[in-house]
Amino acid sequence: MEIEEVAAAEQVVTPWEVSAPDGVIDYDKLVDRFGCQLIDAAIVDRIAHLTLCPPHRFLRRGIFFAHRDLNRILDLYEAGEKFYLYTGRGPSSESLHLGHLIPFMFTKYLQDAFKVPLVIQLTDDEKFLWKNLTIAECKRLARENAKDIIACGFDVERTFIFTDLNYVGGGILGITPEDHIGKVSFPPVQAAPSFPSSFPHLFPGNDQLRCLIPCAIDQDPYFRMTRDVAPKIGFQKPSLIESRFFPALQGESTKMSASDPNSAIYVTDSSKQIKAKVNKYAFSGGQASVELHRKLGANLDVDVPIKYLNFFLEDDDELDHIKKEYKEGRMLTGEVKQRLIAVLSELVARHQRARAQVTEEMVDAFMAVRPLPNMFG
Ligand code: TRP
Repeated sequence: MEIEEVAAAEQVVTPWEVSAPDGVIDYDKLVDRFGCQLIDAAIVDRIAHLTLCPPHRFLRRGIFFAHRDLNRILDLYEAGEKFYLYTGRGPSSESLHLGHLIPFMFTKYLQDAFKVPLVIQLTDDEKFLWKNLTIAECKRLARENAKDIIACGFDVERTFIFTDLNYVGGGILGITPEDHIGKVSFPPVQAAPSFPSSFPHLFPGNDQLRCLIPCAIDQDPYFRMTRDVAPKIGFQKPSLIESRFFPALQGESTKMSASDPNSAIYVTDSSKQIKAKVNKYAFSGGQASVELHRKLGANLDVDVPIKYLNFFLEDDDELDHIKKEYKEGRMLTGEVKQRLIAVLSELVARHQRARAQVTEEMVDAFMAVRPLPNMFG
């Protein structure tokens, strides 16, 4: 997800473009225009109550902030009915940045909390169509990205990872890369995993099984269309749980770009690189001099280290403490950045250790077209 800096009069959020006047997305307006609902404290409590798990910090802090028909899924779950999770990634780059990990970290929590099966779509076909990469390169990137996804800790007993070119392309729709471009109409390809009949090895005879899709809100248009079509073709509408965007180091209003290594922290960065990037590029809401800062305090609304801590520092009390001290000028930007560097270094090092353990055989195991006998257990 990338935020473009343009002097647009209207904000535009689609799967291919995100832009807003001054680069600041008005999420309330977006929810209103899209017609989704905000996630309130009652829903967060309800999820905690139903799953007997503390709600993920992304829920507690309004990072996953919008939904469609989430209460339907929860009503049915409460009544003992099952559902499955569906999420995905377009493999456009070799290494993921922190923003890419967010939906997967959250989906891992949902899988553990609800004990449900999960399908993960890698849209190598999408990147072939949009990014001017070769088929072979898209396939290779999908496999490399699968390793980072597996490193998030998914349970192989409950998770099926597939790439469009292998599973959908050849397998189901019978479209091959050699076919005329006109045959490839991508949006239905992203819609199809919302319906259980797309996975005959997982959900045979269970065509009405509900689906919950965790995603960033730029994916909403695909699934608005999917929900429109679902009843007409005899399926349930998928439910959605949707996140805000993860800001670039330079702030909400600049583009987080795969091609600008200084705009993002990658999961391949060393702690030295993380330290250098945060210190040099993370936009600060602190004042120009220490004296002024002590007097006026920091502007938390624009401060990137605080935004990043909001995503990744687990401890609510510590986060509140840092915000208060920083806002009132007792804490300096350098000190906040130091805490952020420690948090990110630990997270990235942990990811790198987990990623190093992921073998080709494990990727094959997750991608094997197979039944998952204990997927609700
Ligand atoms: N189009 C998404 C991307 O470019 C990938 C994707 C496919 C996806 N299916 C999904 C994302 C379902 C969220 C949920 O990253």
